[in-house]
Amino acid sequence: MTDPATGTTARLVVDLSAIAANYRRLGAELGAGVVCAGVLKANGYGLGANRIGRALWDEGCRVFFVAHFEEGQTLREALPGAEIFVLNGAAPKDEAEFATHRLAPTLNSLAEVTAWARLCARLGPHPAALHIDTGMSRLGLPPEELDILAAEPARLGAIDLRLVMSHLACGEERGHPMNARQLAAFEEARARLPAARASLANSSGIFLGPRYHFGLVRPGLALYGGNPFPDQPNPMRATVRIEARLLQVRNVDQGGTVGYGAARILERRTKIATIAIGYADGYRRNLGDRDRVLVAGQSVPVIGRVSMDLVTLDVTGLADGALVPGSWVEIVGPNRTVEDLAAQSGTIDYEILTTLGARLQRHYVTGAA
Ligand SMILES: Cc1ncc(COP(=O)(O)O)c(C=O)c1O
Repeated sequence: MTDPATGTTARLVVDLSAIAANYRRLGAELGAGVVCAGVLKANGYGLGANRIGRALWDEGCRVFFVAHFEEGQTLREALPGAEIFVLNGAAPKDEAEFATHRLAPTLNSLAEVTAWARLCARLGPHPAALHIDTGMSRLGLPPEELDILAAEPARLGAIDLRLVMSHLACGEERGHPMNARQLAAFEEARARLPAARASLANSSGIFLGPRYHFGLVRPGLALYGGNPFPDQPNPMRATVRIEARLLQVRNVDQGGTVGYGAARILERRTKIATIAIGYADGYRRNLGDRDRVLVAGQSVPVIGRVSMDLVTLDVTGLADGALVPGSWVEIVGPNRTVEDLAAQSGTIDYEILTTLGARLQRHYVTGAA
């Protein structure tokens, strides 16, 4: 890790042992024989797919999901023995590439089934998942295509059908009627298709109970510490800290202005600290003049607009001794969750994590560090 007294950046600290603990925590919800996979799309929700993939592998995770072929290709290098499903499916003519990298596409339409079956006729059985749309209306076989496939299962040809899956639209709302509706539709669809392991639950689906587990569950957010039911206490462990360097402190007289647009005119003499994080790092521009962060354990307001690389804080209440250039300011950490930052930013924790800037220095720790 870089010397804490040097550098001008912000950093993302990922606690791999907390992610491992979350994997075990999810496993504790599952009956014997139910496989707990890991969803690592969007570079492991922004935190680093390969590092997290290896940590999960060490916990016994053998099945992984990504969204894109390229994500699968990268993960394949880190996890040569893993079973990797690509949720967005194989684009036409790319099927052979999937076979080369031993990636299993999620077949999202009859056309994709036909293309993969053609490949299997040529190269022999290759694994795939079959996605049935039960209410998302996004990807997956719609009811009319399911009818055709159920009537003519021979269309699957020599496909090695590893998984029949669907995805919940409202899993994070325990009492939402869509959950039971999708469960019923999925059970019915499964019964009409050739036997294969089934999968419906994402993170929150796991906590909806055993009927939602089938043979395999696909958690993403909960592994990274996200709350499966945002309106209830979070059973998962926090896994990230986001911290920015304190760069400078200055005193500005009453009537002075702060930041772009001179949008903030000071009503009193104000002590201002500048920290090294901005919207290019994923700290939203709409947090200007609204958010609070922690300097030396004390909550202070953001003042003025958020710049690309910098944020200004009103630290008038803090002693000079607490304002050490080069020290870290907590954006997310023991005192503040990703969920809080998301709420303040007007978005959800998924979006905060997956839009963290590429230049945030990423540090991986095991245990409290
Ligand atoms: C098909 C599918 N399965 C599983 C997941 C993981 O969901 P979550 O992060 O809510 O656990 C996702 C993520 O959106 C998904 O698209």
